[in-house]
Amino acid sequence: MYLVKSLIILLFSNSILAVSNTLPVVLWHGMGDTCCLPVSLGAIKKLIEAETNGTYVRSLKIGGNIALDYESGFFIHPDDQVRYVCEQLARDTRLTNGYNAIGFSQGGQFLRAVAQRCSTPPMKTLITLGGQHQGVFGLPKCPSLTSTTCEHLRKLLRRAAYKEWMQRDLVQATYWHDPLQEEEYRQKSSFLSNINNEVFINQTYIDNLNKLEKFVMVMFLNDTIVQPKESQWFGFYSPGQDTIIRPLNESPVFEDLGLNQLDRDGRLIYLSVEGDHLQMTSKWFIENIIPQLSTN
Ligand SMILES: *[C@@H]1O[C@H](CO)[C@@H](O)[C@H](O)[C@H]1NC(C)=O
Ligand SMILES: *[C@@H]1O[C@H](CO)[C@@H](O)[C@H](O)[C@H]1NC(C)=O
Ligand SMILES: *[C@@H]1O[C@H](CO)[C@@H](O)[C@H](O)[C@H]1NC(C)=O
Repeated sequence: MYLVKSLIILLFSNSILAVSNTLPVVLWHGMGDTCCLPVSLGAIKKLIEAETNGTYVRSLKIGGNIALDYESGFFIHPDDQVRYVCEQLARDTRLTNGYNAIGFSQGGQFLRAVAQRCSTPPMKTLITLGGQHQGVFGLPKCPSLTSTTCEHLRKLLRRAAYKEWMQRDLVQATYWHDPLQEEEYRQKSSFLSNINNEVFINQTYIDNLNKLEKFVMVMFLNDTIVQPKESQWFGFYSPGQDTIIRPLNESPVFEDLGLNQLDRDGRLIYLSVEGDHLQMTSKWFIENIIPQLSTN
């Protein structure tokens, strides 16, 4: 009798009965990270679950295992990764009614490509944390790599970013954006100039992006990895030099990708936080990111 009673109490307690009205959340990690480390995305997953009454959180693993997942951040072409993710998401029946997407660093622009290329299941809110929407020109520091490896990567990018083999084999080359060689970038970038509608305008990208309820871009104000940091808000160096920043609303991509429509409706949200790349407290995350998530 006692047992039955406590079981009933347990069943009716909030923790069991509370049903999350937050749509599922899909996470895509950054370079040098993986889906599930307890110190990075593993912790974020737990935090979101705790703050949303246990909504379904899926942290994307690219490829069959953790080693592949890590290497994918460097060596698997973003087009292939995006295709793989679209297939995985389409198969996940828990996402059928829509989901929120949170991209970390380069995972941000990759999830934007998912939004633009794959409209089912429907992405409702896209949140990019430290994304490089206009690419990078420079790599002052690389997370998780030794300084010699980082230095090597940097030299390679400076020297050969637009060579065909680099564009095919090194993920970071696909969003290397050299403002001193703007035309070269447009023609040779094998990913970024395509998803930014800079080579030709793909109306599907505009239409799909405008299906989002919200597109939230988070910039880390003291970022030492993303250069220029304004790329996190879709800003970039004006062509021909590398000091003056042109903000999104003065860049061709504003109209060419239909971001002006999102902006006009108040669905394009600019957030910033003090700190280096991806450095934020759980308090900040709970107060600023959780409330942005779409509900059903
Ligand atoms: C979680 O559930 C509690 C109790 O049902 C509710 O008051 C609260 O608003 C819910 N929070 C979220 C984020 O859904
Ligand atoms: C435009 O994007 C859609 C979605 O990715 C794709 O199916 C289509 O082939 C693209 N159009 C062109 C001309 O590349
Ligand atoms: C971070 O950057 C902001 C904006 O540039 C600046 O006001 C602030 O002092 C910086 N904070 C630190 C800790 O460097």
